[in-house]
Amino acid sequence: MNKKSSPTAVIALVVTIMFVAVLHYVTPVDSIVLHQIYQRIFYIPIILAAFWYGLGGGIGAAALAAVSYLPHILLHWQHQNYEYALNQYAEIGLFFVIGAVTGWLGDQKRREHERAERINTELQTAYADLRQTVGQLLQAERLSSLAEIASGVVHEVRNPLGAIKGAVEILEDEIPEDSPRREFARIAKVEVERIDKLVSEFLRFARPPKLSKVPSSVNELVESVISLLDPRAAEGSVSIEKELASGLSPIEIDPEQIVQVLLNLAINALDATPNGGTIVFRTYESGDTVTVEIEDTGVGIAADDKERIFDPFFTTKDKGTGLGLSVAHRIVTQHDGNLTAENTERGARFKVTLTRTGQ
Ligand SMILES: Nc1ncnc2c1ncn2[C@@H]1O[C@H](COP(=O)(O)OP(=O)(O)OP(=O)(O)O)[C@@H](O)[C@H]1O
Ligand SMILES: [Mg+2]
Repeated sequence: MNKKSSPTAVIALVVTIMFVAVLHYVTPVDSIVLHQIYQRIFYIPIILAAFWYGLGGGIGAAALAAVSYLPHILLHWQHQNYEYALNQYAEIGLFFVIGAVTGWLGDQKRREHERAERINTELQTAYADLRQTVGQLLQAERLSSLAEIASGVVHEVRNPLGAIKGAVEILEDEIPEDSPRREFARIAKVEVERIDKLVSEFLRFARPPKLSKVPSSVNELVESVISLLDPRAAEGSVSIEKELASGLSPIEIDPEQIVQVLLNLAINALDATPNGGTIVFRTYESGDTVTVEIEDTGVGIAADDKERIFDPFFTTKDKGTGLGLSVAHRIVTQHDGNLTAENTERGARFKVTLTRTGQ
């Protein structure tokens, strides 16, 4: 039922019809049997044309057969054998009937086939969506039970960790300044701090603290994040710019948690930005929302990672926990706000939108 789209198929059909017509003209009139065979051969290209090109193809081929055969009837049979000529006119009528009916049936079947294919594609898409949703549900369930168990363990890890940190510091003090052993103490301290950060992030992720909302100035929170960031920025010679809206009225939020969000975003921006780059902190108000943007001139978010950066434990960094953005996302969502990421011409931009609803 494939529609032959190549011009060769059309040419072959036309040539066959013309060839059969020529046979009529060159065969003596008294060889009636041969003429009858030829006229049946006309049906082959007519049916094929109808089959391949539908109603239009069938009628077109019938018309071509009629036009090429008609003069032969008029020239020869009309005078010599009128009855046979009438028979032939009827045959030509039949060309059209066969061409039209086959073409119509072909069209119907093709439409059905297309419909079935469309339904099949839709079903496949729906199936893929369903599988993805089921996968996400399973993952969410796995994560929540995993988080439940792990947060218990992690909680227990914190106390000995504090003790180790204290002990290492005492040991470090006792090691002479010039001893190569001091380096071991330094490594131990750095690694303990790393575990401590992971543990804290994980606990924030697994057991989010309850929000304690108070009217807060978003600009002040941004300023405090910048002051926390400044030494790191100076270290990497990254300049910090501020475009803070003036006259922002306070908004009901949990300031500590929002600082945590902004800090996570700012540290990511700093991680992504090379020396000489810039991080812009921008705040603005629109309707009943206040937005904080943190824009960097870093590497931007890779297209493949865009969907996953907010997933817990997704990281592209050697020492990253991959929890920074998922914690930030959770906190902003708890505030009924929105956290989005996009690439700019020069890097990435993260947007925290907080709503004043209910205030
Ligand atoms: N400003 C940014 N520019 C480019 N990529 C970013 C930016 N912020 C986040 N990402 C990408 O998103 C990933 C996840 O970020 P997230 O803060 O959740 O974890 P992390 O920064 O890798 O680890 P951690 O927060 O523990 O240091 C990063 O590893 C990085 O690939
Ligand atoms: Mg991070």
